[in-house]
Amino acid sequence: MNDTLNSIYERRAVRKYKDIPVAKEVIEQLIAAGRMAPSAMNNQPWKFYIVTDKEKIELFSKEISEIAIKQIKHVRIKDLLKMTLSHFHFSKVIDLIKTQDHIFYNAPVVIFITAPRKDDWGKLSVGMCAQNILLAAKAMGLDTCPVGFAKFVMQTKDYYLLNIPAAEEVEFALVIGFGDELPREPKRLEDNVFYI
Ligand SMILES: Cc1cc2nc3c(=O)[nH]c(=O)nc-3n(C[C@H](O)[C@H](O)[C@H](O)COP(=O)(O)O)c2cc1C
Repeated sequence: MNDTLNSIYERRAVRKYKDIPVAKEVIEQLIAAGRMAPSAMNNQPWKFYIVTDKEKIELFSKEISEIAIKQIKHVRIKDLLKMTLSHFHFSKVIDLIKTQDHIFYNAPVVIFITAPRKDDWGKLSVGMCAQNILLAAKAMGLDTCPVGFAKFVMQTKDYYLLNIPAAEEVEFALVIGFGDELPREPKRLEDNVFYI
């Protein structure tokens, strides 16, 4: 298998990290890989807001989990069950409770990625950019986890600390670090291909 395929198959969502920082040059190489992603009309809508300060990461994690819990309470039991079965981050509730940081998993780097609110293709382009970063990180010996929950950061009282202009919205966040677990590969569905 070549290096690209290796990164694709070996990448896992890692939810436990060693207390080791990631060098700024490495972060910059990852962002450079993100910038190489395709984007609709080549508008490169992404902006990266990078947090490495432990206290700030913990603060956002705490505030986001409070908001996420409130949102979950609004979800009907049936929908919650559906999520439980389809998403690791709901199915491992016990693990989550035991982990100190339920959102960013004590990773040393959190990257919030935004796109302009008015960009219809923003989410898709940001997704492509994020995947480039995840794969580049894997290729460089790092681990990552995409964090959709991070969107709730926009509702936190300390959101202003990120200095994100009002015209942008947080689409996604990625955590990056040196993993301290080897998660099993979640089963991939295969009944989803239709040759016409
Ligand atoms: C859009 C998106 C949002 C996600 N949000 C979260 C999240 O908030 N927390 C989390 O632990 N994992 C999150 N994940 C990771 C998925 O749960 C994970 O990718 C999936 O279970 C497959 O596992 P794998 O990445 O190890 O192959 C998210 C993934 C995607 C693509």
